[in-house]
Amino acid sequence: MDIPGNISRRNWLVSGIHEKELARAFSLYAGGKLLDIGCGDKPYGHLTAEYVSEHIGLDHAGSEHDLSRADLIGTAYSIPLDDEHVDTILCTAVLEHLEEPQDALREAYRVLKPGGYAIYTVPLFWHLHEEPRDFYRYTKHGLRYLFEKSGFTIVELKEMSGFWVTFGQELVYYLWGLRGGGKLNPLRLIAPPLGAAIQGICYLLDRIDHSPQFAWAYILVARK
Ligand SMILES: C[S@@+](CC[C@H](N)C(=O)[O-])C[C@H]1O[C@@H](n2cnc3c(N)ncnc32)[C@H](O)[C@@H]1O
Repeated sequence: MDIPGNISRRNWLVSGIHEKELARAFSLYAGGKLLDIGCGDKPYGHLTAEYVSEHIGLDHAGSEHDLSRADLIGTAYSIPLDDEHVDTILCTAVLEHLEEPQDALREAYRVLKPGGYAIYTVPLFWHLHEEPRDFYRYTKHGLRYLFEKSGFTIVELKEMSGFWVTFGQELVYYLWGLRGGGKLNPLRLIAPPLGAAIQGICYLLDRIDHSPQFAWAYILVARK
C-alpha cells in the first residue's frame, strides 16, 4: 500500500485514516523498545516518539524504499535481534509483501517480550504495488488464523473503512495513473482537484454508510 507516510493530494484520505488509527493504537499499546518491521522510510516515528524509548526500523537490503532511516538491515524472516528483545512490534503495510507470512509472524513473536503488543496494518482491497514483491491480500478471518497459529492473542481487529473510502481512493489512484502522456493530457490538471473532491465526498459517504466488508485495510493488535 502506498498509504503510510505518503500523505499527498493523491491519498490523503487513507493516509489520514491510517495515521489516526495508528496514533490511537500507539497511545494504548506502544511502549519500551519498538521494532518497526519493513519500516521503509520509517514514517511513524513522530507518532511513536512520546510512547517508546526506541523506535528501531528494520528493512531488507532489496527494498525499493530509501533505507537511510533504517537501523537494521535484515528480513522479516530473520531479524538480527535476540529472543524477547523488544516490547512492541510495528508492521504497517508489509504482510502482503511477504511470501511466507506465517514464518514472518513466528519470527516477530520470537523477538517480542511476553506481554508485549504487535500492531499491524494489512490490506483487504488494494491495487498491485511494489511488484513483484506483492503476494497477498487478507481477510479478517485469515489474519486471525495466522496470528493465533503463530501464538498471538488477538486484542483488536478492526476495519479501517467501509466501501466508499476503498472505492474513492482506488478511483483516485486510477485517475492519477492516467495523467501520463505529456502536458496535453487534460488529466494532468484535472486529476488533482478531482481527486481531492472525490476523497472528500467519499470520506463523508463512508461515515453515513459504513460497510466494513469493503474495507481497504485492517488494523490488528495482538499480544504475546
Ligand atoms: C508498502 S511498504 C511499507 C513501508 C512502511 N512500513 C510504511 O508503512 O510506510 C512495504 C515494506 O515492506 C518491506 N519488505 C518487503 N519484503 C520484506 C522482507 N522480506 N523483510 C523485511 N521487509 C520487507 C519493503 O522493503 C517495504 O519497505
